[in-house]
Amino acid sequence: MSTTRGPGNGPRVVLGVAGGIAAYKAALLLRELTESGHDVTVVPTAASEHFVGRATWEALSGKPVATDVWSHADEVPHVRLGRHADLVVVAPATADLLGRAAHGLADDLLTNVLLTATCPVLLAPAMHTEMWLNPAVQANVALLRSRGTTVLEPASGRLTGADTGPGRMPEPADIAAACRRLLASGARSYDLAGRRVVVSAGGTREPLDPVRFLGNRSSGRQGVALAAAAAARGAVVTLVAAHVEVPDPSGVEVVRVATAAELGETVRALAASADVVVMAAAVADFRPATRAGNKIKKSDDPARDPVVVLERTDDVLAGLVRERAGAAPVIVGFAAETGDESGTVLEHGRAKLTRKGCDLLVLNEVGEAKGFATPTNAVTILGADGSEREVAEASKDVVADAVWDAVVPMLTSAVTLTT
Ligand code: CTP
Repeated sequence: MSTTRGPGNGPRVVLGVAGGIAAYKAALLLRELTESGHDVTVVPTAASEHFVGRATWEALSGKPVATDVWSHADEVPHVRLGRHADLVVVAPATADLLGRAAHGLADDLLTNVLLTATCPVLLAPAMHTEMWLNPAVQANVALLRSRGTTVLEPASGRLTGADTGPGRMPEPADIAAACRRLLASGARSYDLAGRRVVVSAGGTREPLDPVRFLGNRSSGRQGVALAAAAAARGAVVTLVAAHVEVPDPSGVEVVRVATAAELGETVRALAASADVVVMAAAVADFRPATRAGNKIKKSDDPARDPVVVLERTDDVLAGLVRERAGAAPVIVGFAAETGDESGTVLEHGRAKLTRKGCDLLVLNEVGEAKGFATPTNAVTILGADGSEREVAEASKDVVADAVWDAVVPMLTSAVTLTT
């Protein structure tokens, strides 16, 4: 066994593979990691060899593979691998592996590595839905997260048999992305461990008739980036998605909504047990006062063309602030502003922060080509305490991490181990 850096001199990753059918997908993860320059040592469990034999791991990683602490004992691999790794990722992490990791057992090489690792640890669960939802497994996951281990939420979808539900291993590309994020963010990776986070994203759509709606140009990219970043930093995340034009982030529960009213109802219900609520959605301020039951038709007489009357929607953000109990949840608003004769973008932002009463306001200047549907963003994060952090033009992922960097110091209460 060797832990010397590979030809790419890239980060050293230990890829643990536990005994589940998704082990075959770990081969794709291994390939993705090695091809992007990571130096990967595979540590399968003995059970996983029922699914994928060690020849596969040795051929793909170019390194010998062991499952127990007795092979190559002279090199003390169980200590050396854990100590020297920059990241340990276990994919798939079975219910048994999660249990052994949560309780500090060390009966094979992989669990020894988990105990000696001082680097970030990422677990990608895969199991049947009933097993994932079992309170024993959920308690183990909560315990691991509370200690700083990143446990991805499993994906929902087709499982081994005909059954479907949460329990499917996240896709190898998503796990690789989570690995890269953990390697890049280092120590701050775990600072949302065990926190419950709700992020709203995308643009609401207010129906006018069965085929038409009033919408807006929000793509949902920033909200999705916020949800993904929170999950990578250990939070348990629910994304309340209005109309969103990008794929769902992995490791995040997604609740779909359409209108401002549905979004408000959903976010309010989730806020009761959340540590943080981020309102990144572009929520309609007005909706058609009536919704036609049938498609509105043209008539021959232009004088009879319809006039749309609008009514106000509820302000979800202001409502959350009004209804919150004590200091929780921390509430973050967004404001897309343009400067005008009555004030600059910053002045409008400050006024909005005061008016809405939230803890942080992420302010961005918008225009035809700014802010919407673009991969980058430039924001100023305003704090109710008068603080101001500027984030110069950067990817929405970088902006997302800057927002969480601002939120984390505001989280004072201890993490509760809920299941
Ligand atoms: N928001 C909300 N409910 C609404 C409208 C907006 O919760 N009905 C939230 C948004 O999610 C965002 C923040 O309020 O976090 C600011 O949205 P914005 O549209 O900029 O603010 P408005 O209150 O609508 O002010 P304006 O009159 O400038 O549009």
